[in-house]
Amino acid sequence: MKMDISAISIRISLLLVLFWCSAALLAEPQYQALGQSASELTEQPQWNLTISPDGTGLPPGSGDAKVGQQIFEQRCAGCHGFDAIGASAMPLVGELGSLRSEYPEKTVNSYWPYATTLFDYIRRAMPPAAPYSLSSHEIYALCAYILSQDGIIEANVELNEVTLPQVKMPNRDGFSAVYPNNR
Ligand code: HEC
Repeated sequence: MKMDISAISIRISLLLVLFWCSAALLAEPQYQALGQSASELTEQPQWNLTISPDGTGLPPGSGDAKVGQQIFEQRCAGCHGFDAIGASAMPLVGELGSLRSEYPEKTVNSYWPYATTLFDYIRRAMPPAAPYSLSSHEIYALCAYILSQDGIIEANVELNEVTLPQVKMPNRDGFSAVYPNNR
């Protein structure tokens, strides 16, 4: 078969276009986040999970113990037991006042100095297979359920970003910055 110059150059051009298209398709994807500083990332609400003891950083929402109990039984009791008294995972409630006894037991309610930590911990870590999956309303309700189990709050109290930091944990004043040796 004979081909003149123009037919050959058309074929070469077509080949070049084909080559360019496949090169574009095979190119490495562009990673948008590359080069962003860590501090820029933590300024974004979905990454900035820090909650201070005084409640700074708590998101809006609310819930009470009744709703919390339902969520607890579905999402938490499998490991922490019904009534949060412990099963394969540790108890979260009970043992108030045991810390100075012969058998001190550190539960959330007996040991933790701030209720705001409970919100922070559940949001970022529980349930272990799906951290950050609970809504703020659900987490306030779970906090209300756990705290009301030991009467730290009344069963009908609604917890939210204002009332949660006001909860006084039984062991709030049990921590000391002074090491025993320095006394
Ligand atoms: C699959 C089992 C499992 C499920 C389900 C689960 N947890 Fe946990 N939880 C654990 C384990 C294990 C730990 C201990 C983790 C560690 O110390 O590193 C823990 C720790 C905790 C703590 C800290 C207790 C302490 O004294 O340090 C809290 C609070 C807590 N879980 C709340 C919850 C809540 C609320 C839910 C339901 C939304 C839940 N957990 C569901 C297994 C589970």
